[in-house]
Amino acid sequence: MRLDIELFGTVFQNPVVLAAGTCGFGRELVDVLDLDALGGFVTKSVTLEARKGNPAPRVAEFRAGMVNSVGLANPGMEETRRDRLPWIRDNVRRARVFVSIAGHHVEEYHRLVEGLDAADGFVGFEVNLSCPNDLRRGGPPFALDPEAVRAIVSGCRARTERPLLAKLAPNDPSLATTARIAEEAGADGLTLVNTLPALLLGDLDGDPVLGAGPGGMSGPALLPVGVLAVHAARGATSLPLVGAGGVLAAADAVSYARAGASLVQVGTASFADPRAGIAIAEELRRWGRRQGVTRWTDLVPFERRT
Ligand SMILES: Cc1cc2nc3c(=O)[nH]c(=O)nc-3n(C[C@H](O)[C@H](O)[C@H](O)COP(=O)(O)O)c2cc1C
Repeated sequence: MRLDIELFGTVFQNPVVLAAGTCGFGRELVDVLDLDALGGFVTKSVTLEARKGNPAPRVAEFRAGMVNSVGLANPGMEETRRDRLPWIRDNVRRARVFVSIAGHHVEEYHRLVEGLDAADGFVGFEVNLSCPNDLRRGGPPFALDPEAVRAIVSGCRARTERPLLAKLAPNDPSLATTARIAEEAGADGLTLVNTLPALLLGDLDGDPVLGAGPGGMSGPALLPVGVLAVHAARGATSLPLVGAGGVLAAADAVSYARAGASLVQVGTASFADPRAGIAIAEELRRWGRRQGVTRWTDLVPFERRT
């Protein structure tokens, strides 16, 4: 099966992209995988100032996945511009890179786009509207506030011509509306979904396992949640969709495609095997050959099949 896909003004050699926060800025992984075998990757979410993140422990496994509360630990905008993006520019050739941005205030997103837009090495921005682990900001993520979504995305739109992906939340009761608002505000695509708010308690003492208490759930249990979100957004907007949540194998990527996604992201699977994303792309190729599907882009949503 041919896996290449033209999207967001560029060509992805395959549809498998490593998810934000699970691959650093790429450089962290060069000893264990060939970044240029991927469709692309999304950087850790960058904030204006460097952040240390939440108290340890920050990640814990459970039977159906993991819960994390990393809390957007990142080097901040200046260091990203001075060090991380030049490395990507000089070392990544075929993988397509999106820079994830996050903030405590609407204006923080706008300043990040202003500050990073002129740098080289990346295709576009993924606007993280849906982090459940931002202790300092508190309250629900921006993705659950339609006016915040509109203000953040439209302000980013006004400041860059690069593709903008709006990353939305899995626990949004009005996802179709949010998707439409993001589109109206100028997003070029939607990434669905971020982690789902969750709390793991210890077996014996009943205390929270993570240092911050609650966190965001990812991994296998998130797959059907993410697939439903993509399906709901597909019915609401014609924007390209990027599926994320619980992709461990080619079949999961195909589920997202059948629900209407053009690309898929792989996050938690990379913690067990950093090459998981590459293995999934290779498995997809074989799957297509076995099924007689010649192109990834021929995988139409299940509702449109005759
Ligand atoms: C340890 C960890 C850190 C993450 N950090 C970010 C982040 O900085 N920005 C973001 O938008 N999503 C972040 N995510 C969410 C992932 O990008 C992805 O949306 C989510 O984990 C679902 O995919 P998965 O089930 O394949 O992991 C993080 C996830 C994990 C597990």
